[in-house]
Amino acid sequence: CGIVGYAGTQSALDVVLAGLRRLEYRGYDSAGAAVLAGGGLATAKKSGKLANLEKELMERPLPSATTGIGHTRWATHGAPNDANAHPHLDNAGRVAVVHNGIIENFAELRAELRARGHHLESETDTETVAHLLSESYGAHVDLAAAMREVCGRLQGAFTLVAVHADAPDRVVGARRNSPLVVGVGEGEYFLASDVAAFIDHTRTAIELGQDQVVEVWPEGVAVTGFDGLPAEVRTYHVDWDASAAEKSGYASFMLKEIAEQPKAVADTLLGRVDESGTLLLDEVRVPPEVLRETSKVVVVACGTAFHAGLIAKYAIEHWTRLPCEVELASEFRYRDPILDHGTLVIAISQSGETMDTLMALRHAREQGAHVLAICNTNGSTIPRESDAVLYTHAGPEVAVASTKAFLTQLVACYLVALWLAQHRGEKFGDEIGEVVSELAGIPGDLERVLETMEPVRELARSLAGHDTVLFLGRHVGYPVALEGALKLKELAYMHAEGFAAGELKHGPIALIDQGLPVVVLVPSPRGRSVLHDKIVSNIQEIRARGARTVVIAEEGDEAVAPYADHLIEIPEVPTLLQPLVATVPLQVFACELATARGNEVDQPRNLAKSVTVE
Ligand code: G6P
Repeated sequence: CGIVGYAGTQSALDVVLAGLRRLEYRGYDSAGAAVLAGGGLATAKKSGKLANLEKELMERPLPSATTGIGHTRWATHGAPNDANAHPHLDNAGRVAVVHNGIIENFAELRAELRARGHHLESETDTETVAHLLSESYGAHVDLAAAMREVCGRLQGAFTLVAVHADAPDRVVGARRNSPLVVGVGEGEYFLASDVAAFIDHTRTAIELGQDQVVEVWPEGVAVTGFDGLPAEVRTYHVDWDASAAEKSGYASFMLKEIAEQPKAVADTLLGRVDESGTLLLDEVRVPPEVLRETSKVVVVACGTAFHAGLIAKYAIEHWTRLPCEVELASEFRYRDPILDHGTLVIAISQSGETMDTLMALRHAREQGAHVLAICNTNGSTIPRESDAVLYTHAGPEVAVASTKAFLTQLVACYLVALWLAQHRGEKFGDEIGEVVSELAGIPGDLERVLETMEPVRELARSLAGHDTVLFLGRHVGYPVALEGALKLKELAYMHAEGFAAGELKHGPIALIDQGLPVVVLVPSPRGRSVLHDKIVSNIQEIRARGARTVVIAEEGDEAVAPYADHLIEIPEVPTLLQPLVATVPLQVFACELATARGNEVDQPRNLAKSVTVE
């Protein structure tokens, strides 16, 4: 969910709605807002996207006010209807609360409140907080103190932001495991799940730590722990501006973000390699002895970031000769993994807030492992809780389906792998230098790929009526196939599956039928030609069974061309780096196919960009 709070001198509703627009990527099942005006509280909420709320507010405007809160929801408890939309109020209608996360003991709290005569209207866990806050405020007449007391009773993960009609210029927030940042303006303060919500107003932000309560009013901010002790705060400057969070003429954020990939990759490489090809990653702050003593690498991540991890495994094992495991973060800690001081855990996350990944890294640290985060969001929870961090510089990614963040995650993984190899003195000769110069050429390669995407778009449109598309790859092409299938599921709502091409004959080949589109990732014919030849045979096998083959192969690969019903050419790069260029046509393909099917690509149904619940 996305949360905004405002205390200042501007129209609170305008600030809150503009903020919610920027946070809609976090969920769009319903939206709502509350403002403090004329000694009372006025609220509006509506199921569906923010536009529905905006329409409602046109018809029934709220009174003008300078203090307010807002919410855009990704449903966890209760259906996405009007009643379950946030804010939630107490029975007297004096307290309004918005919430992100899950309050695990809500059933117990609800029963308790009912026993004390409270009437609860929604099925949400959030409503219990409004009622508890109202009771607690009655006892303290201090909203921050009441919030601290209530937080002490809550189990689970949450960000809460609340207002009380008796405290007309105040907004109070609290966080445990879910994100909340403070924007510092002149005579105005903002609370939000993400700096994007207030980037139009200020680029100065304050990070909040775990278990902290923040109170803002037009002239100031106070941060305390749940225990009431004042907390030290760190102010930082947001290094991107409002234009980075705009569509800038593109039909969707996804199209804009696909187009930004050459720059995102170049920015992520910038300053990290010197002229002699030596990796400069001191910023990561992993002590050299940790690098030398690492005996195993474990990558944890979710969704698209997990696919980056799967590709990283090939690079890490090849260049460092260290064993590397890759695991879905949501599975990792529940299987009692074997970790120790020699384990380097790499947690990959664009948002830095994915709860599954956060829980996995906490478990890893408890077991004594060293955790390195690869993250795109400065100051977010995952890098803050890791021992070290390598930031990707993709800039803000707004479309729910990840594109430029994925490519930069790959670049970061390659850099970490090469850096580990450099520190451990592995003997792979000049390969580090060679790879580094190949990486430097990738932004140019990506530009060329982007210029040749029209046939891919045409093909996508022609396949819009199909129900199923399969993706095949070998080696690093296998995770790319998985990513291609994920993109199509996310955006086009089609049945799409990725397979290791060699595994096809052990079952999935039974799916091949007349005219079934199958996208095949073909490795470079140079170097690893055995791999190449194997996949050419696989293509012939599926073609013989009626498949319509869409082949993604290196320019000039004549051996594969005769078997391609549709040939998509990509520039020649070393096999390990091929995912950087091979993924782009798959992104364009999924985006165009989804558009042709009438879907909204930036906000696919049922999804959210940053999932801060387990
Ligand atoms: C969500 C998004 C995915 C994303 C995954 C991991 O499920 O819809 O696109 O890959 O989270 O996100 P992260 O921010 O941790 O990279």
